[in-house]
Amino acid sequence: MLNRRNFALTAAAVGWTGGRQALATPRPGLRPATADQVARAFATPRSQLKVGVIGTGARGWVHLRELLRRDDVAVTALCDIDDWALNYARNLVLKAGRPMPALYTGSPDAWRQLLADGSGGKLDAVLIVTPWELHAPQAIAAMQAGIAVGCEVVAGVTLDDHWQVLRAQQASGVPYMLLENVCYRRDVLAALNMARQNLFGEIVHLEGGYEHDLRPVKFNSGVPGKLYGQGVEFGAKGWSEARWRTDHSVHRNGDLYPSHGIGPCAMQAHINRGNRFVQLTSYASKARGLSAYVKGQNPTHPNNAVRFKLGDVVQTQLACAGGETMLLTHDTSLPRPYSLGFRVQGTQGLWMDVADGIYIEGKSKKHDEWDAASTWFKTYDHPLWRKYGQTAEGSGHGGMDFFVIHAFIEALKRAEPMPIDIYDAVTWSAITPLSEASVTQGSQTVAFPDFTEGHWASRKPIFALDDRY
Ligand SMILES: NC(=O)c1ccc[n+]([C@@H]2O[C@H](COP(=O)([O-])OP(=O)(O)OC[C@H]3O[C@@H](n4cnc5c(N)ncnc54)[C@H](O)[C@@H]3O)[C@@H](O)[C@H]2O)c1
Repeated sequence: MLNRRNFALTAAAVGWTGGRQALATPRPGLRPATADQVARAFATPRSQLKVGVIGTGARGWVHLRELLRRDDVAVTALCDIDDWALNYARNLVLKAGRPMPALYTGSPDAWRQLLADGSGGKLDAVLIVTPWELHAPQAIAAMQAGIAVGCEVVAGVTLDDHWQVLRAQQASGVPYMLLENVCYRRDVLAALNMARQNLFGEIVHLEGGYEHDLRPVKFNSGVPGKLYGQGVEFGAKGWSEARWRTDHSVHRNGDLYPSHGIGPCAMQAHINRGNRFVQLTSYASKARGLSAYVKGQNPTHPNNAVRFKLGDVVQTQLACAGGETMLLTHDTSLPRPYSLGFRVQGTQGLWMDVADGIYIEGKSKKHDEWDAASTWFKTYDHPLWRKYGQTAEGSGHGGMDFFVIHAFIEALKRAEPMPIDIYDAVTWSAITPLSEASVTQGSQTVAFPDFTEGHWASRKPIFALDDRY
């Protein structure tokens, strides 16, 4: 099976600053629907959706496969500026025996044409699966065209991006979902299920992170089709994520990828729905891992001269209005087995995912000793996994990639609110620029903006409440 470690692709030349598009650029050719038309379209349940994908790289293929499996979705438009990546996606469609979508390519702005052609109800939704710096302009333009957005993590790069994405969603009324798949991981949902049944008692502290050795992703040979982990090229000479992601490690220092870790913690703590982040503080370690990797792979390569700004381990402490604390870790430049480092801790017990450990006072087998979390999670398997576990088998990231697309499509079809909505998207993603600001200011504490503008107190949780999506 293909995954990011055993397959390669070519990617387009988009540097993280060079590929930046102006958020407020007028969009010629777009026929924005009126707010009324949009409201009507998305308030009416539908049984079929026409969906497009912008960015058919490694992650785009995963989503495309999920869409092609569904008989309630017609994939009608694909866009990528890289021929090889787009052709790969085209072959996935052919193999699935589905009608060929319109293909958009040939210019970094080809996606604008896709949106123009899809406006006026011709496209119901678009998945945005491009480099980070394109997420905000593409999402804003899609919503202005009346096309629902499923956006890969993160929502934008700067704090201003996040406000602009939010304002575009509010002005258009178009549904927007952050495609945060880890919220649907089986153990994460089982822990949420346990918390909802009060097994942990009152939640006091949460931890999570993105702790993933990305060195073989940040560097490669630059030769399309070669395996991940070969070579030390990045930027214009790299392919796939090495082409655009590594530049962020050169120029930025903060938690660059918060949502995999913070999403599940935020759902546990009802952030934006009865609770909110009030402030954060970030600490960044020294940056050694990427340089050591380049030197170890090829001591004479010119990339040995590159100075990486991103601290190898960035830790962010967040304080919540409800009195909970959170610790978020970004750790992508050192050798280490993958773990998102979850910890859910309350007055009655806790779960820590690294050691498969769970402890519930008075209910664990022995006092003050860990039980196997996996045993508890069988008992408390979330209704979604009980219902769809078999369907999700073989889907990406242990099945959770099925659930995130399923949720987006089902909520849209049923004309119901997005389960991971615009407020979740901008709140989780804003941790990046806020943590950068904290690190830049010598780990000063930074106030967290309230994107809900006071509504967090009365909004109610809606995420994964039953077995529908
Ligand atoms: N949720 C997850 O588990 C997960 C996993 C991997 C990646 N991602 C996210 O998915 C996104 C894509 O990552 P990826 O691994 O597929 O990267 P990738 O580099 O393999 O794919 C990105 C694709 O976007 C295309 N692209 C660049 N500029 C474009 C433009 N102007 N118009 C159209 N297409 C353009 C590139 O040619 C490339 O094919 C990123 O935001 C990444 O963080 C999420």
